[in-house]
Amino acid sequence: MKKLLLHLDTDPIPSAFDQAVAYDSDVDNIMAYGGVTRDNVTPHVHGMIFTRGGKNLKNSAIFVGGSNVAASELVGSAIKKAFFGPVRVSVMLDPNGSNTTAAAVARKVMTNYDITGKKVVIIGAGPVGQRSALYFLKEGAAEVIITSRSLARAKAITEQMKEAYGVDVTPGESRSDESVAELLKDAHVVITSGPAGVCVLPEATWRASSSLEVIADVNAVPPLGVGGLEVMDNGTEKEGIRFYGAIAIGNFKMKVHHNAVSSLFESNDQFLDETTIYDIACKIDT
Ligand SMILES: NC(=O)c1ccc[n+]([C@@H]2O[C@H](COP(=O)([O-])OP(=O)(O)OC[C@H]3O[C@@H](n4cnc5c(N)ncnc54)[C@H](OP(=O)(O)O)[C@@H]3O)[C@@H](O)[C@H]2O)c1
Repeated sequence: MKKLLLHLDTDPIPSAFDQAVAYDSDVDNIMAYGGVTRDNVTPHVHGMIFTRGGKNLKNSAIFVGGSNVAASELVGSAIKKAFFGPVRVSVMLDPNGSNTTAAAVARKVMTNYDITGKKVVIIGAGPVGQRSALYFLKEGAAEVIITSRSLARAKAITEQMKEAYGVDVTPGESRSDESVAELLKDAHVVITSGPAGVCVLPEATWRASSSLEVIADVNAVPPLGVGGLEVMDNGTEKEGIRFYGAIAIGNFKMKVHHNAVSSLFESNDQFLDETTIYDIACKIDT
């Protein structure tokens, strides 16, 4: 029986990237729809759960993507509500690649590196930065600071994270190189998850810190997020600091993404979100 993936995107045009990865994960056919909301998703779900019964249901699955993470999460909740009893299919949520990318960031940083008790600074409080913060705290970091150019925005984000996940993330301000330097004074790890093509951590700023042990950047578009870092760095040591660039992180992200999509078809009752996708990344890592 063919493996069918219903690709639901909250953006108007469904992501070509996510569909290409799904084909490379052995999906036979993808049905892709854009402009999906929590209010129009139910008929799509019915199309998947009422066409194949019993054991065959595991050959159908749903992927939810889109650049608006909050909207994609609402779609995910609406999908769950449309299921009943065993009449369901497996679902994966990876809006904007946030879950797979952040899981890859965390696992790369923790390659032969014990995060327990460390201070982590995350420059860029978008979905990738927020998910990464969750993983570092889960693994025992002493403090995780997440920054925005506006301290008020950073505070709002950390309050939302407290409400959603019960975690204590410290808000930080990254408006100037001086404010970043202050945050890095006694930090061990810095993650740059700012927008593509913007250097948010100049070389002079990280060089001024004597405590840094690991620097990782997810921006693959020049100029990179960190001055002096190479996009291919994969644990490269410079000045006693380990560097990870966006390609090394991206390669691991692709493994996590492929593995997660493939595993959707193992049973009809999985819900792959920020928690379960991180578990998949950990399994690959071991
Ligand atoms: N390597 C991979 O496999 C991979 C996969 C997916 C995504 N990515 C990359 O991951 C990064 C983060 O993605 P995301 O979706 O979490 O990010 P995002 O939401 O697009 O941006 C992160 C934060 O950067 C800040 N920002 C925006 N413009 C800025 C500027 N000009 N200067 C400094 N800061 C600015 C914004 O915060 P404030 O406005 O509050 O300061 C924003 O919240 C992106 O570079 C993306 O390309 C990499």
